[in-house]
Amino acid sequence: MSSPTADPIPLAARPAATPAPFPPTWALKVIMALTGSLFVAFVLFHLAGNLKVYIGAEDFNHYAEWLRHLLNPLIPGSGFLWAFRAVMVGSLVLHVYSGITLWVRGRRSRGNHPRKFIARRLSSRTMFWTGLIVLCFIIFHILDLTMGKLVAADGFDPADPYSNLIHSFSRAPVAVFYGLTMALIAFHISHGIWSVINDLGGTGKRLRSVVFIVAGVVAVVVAIGNLSIPIAVQAGILAVS
Ligand code: HEM
Repeated sequence: MSSPTADPIPLAARPAATPAPFPPTWALKVIMALTGSLFVAFVLFHLAGNLKVYIGAEDFNHYAEWLRHLLNPLIPGSGFLWAFRAVMVGSLVLHVYSGITLWVRGRRSRGNHPRKFIARRLSSRTMFWTGLIVLCFIIFHILDLTMGKLVAADGFDPADPYSNLIHSFSRAPVAVFYGLTMALIAFHISHGIWSVINDLGGTGKRLRSVVFIVAGVVAVVVAIGNLSIPIAVQAGILAVS
């Protein structure tokens, strides 16, 4: 006779426990939050530099030169810039890997009903795709304005980033491409900043309201500030003198 406390399901008949995924989801979210915050800081810093284009060619080029030789003579040549680039590339790899892994896990956990009454904001649902477009934009942008391999190629002068920029943006398709991607970047950034607070476990009501407002303001500032540059070039307000 079996005792009343005996396990009704024999051990051998129980389904095997699903092994915890590796890397754990919480670790991927923390990586997304930290690397994403680094990118937002970079985009704001880059925007401040980009807006120098309105002061004039000399000022803009001087700023670019200053960046290349940051922390000289403590770190010789462009050492700091290259170290910074290495950190950015490493962070980008981690950000993309974590983003794709979380996206795949999210789809799997929703099974065959990806849209089943799951109320999520449009920006949240499109994070994967806007992220992919931002990645393509960054590759295009570096090939064009840093390396001079694309549209700014004819007459590309590494010592004259101002002229390179004007040459590139004076082509209508490039200006339109920048316009569209800047809007998507703003979308990606706004939801990204908002996700940081969730991923790092911020629950305070006031804190969440502040982050919500900051996310919106940063996105609008980045979009308008950057968007104004291709528009100004197309309108002839910014030109090579
Ligand atoms: C209209 C908006 C923008 C303008 C006018 C602009 C302008 C420039 C210029 C002129 C350079 C080359 C600098 C040099 O050679 O010294 C550059 C590099 C770069 N930009 Fe932008 N940029 C814009 C938006 C963005 C955005 C939204 C991102 C990121 C999402 C971005 C990421 C980068 C990166 C990663 C580099 C390479 C930095 C390096 O390693 O030298 N840019 N940008």
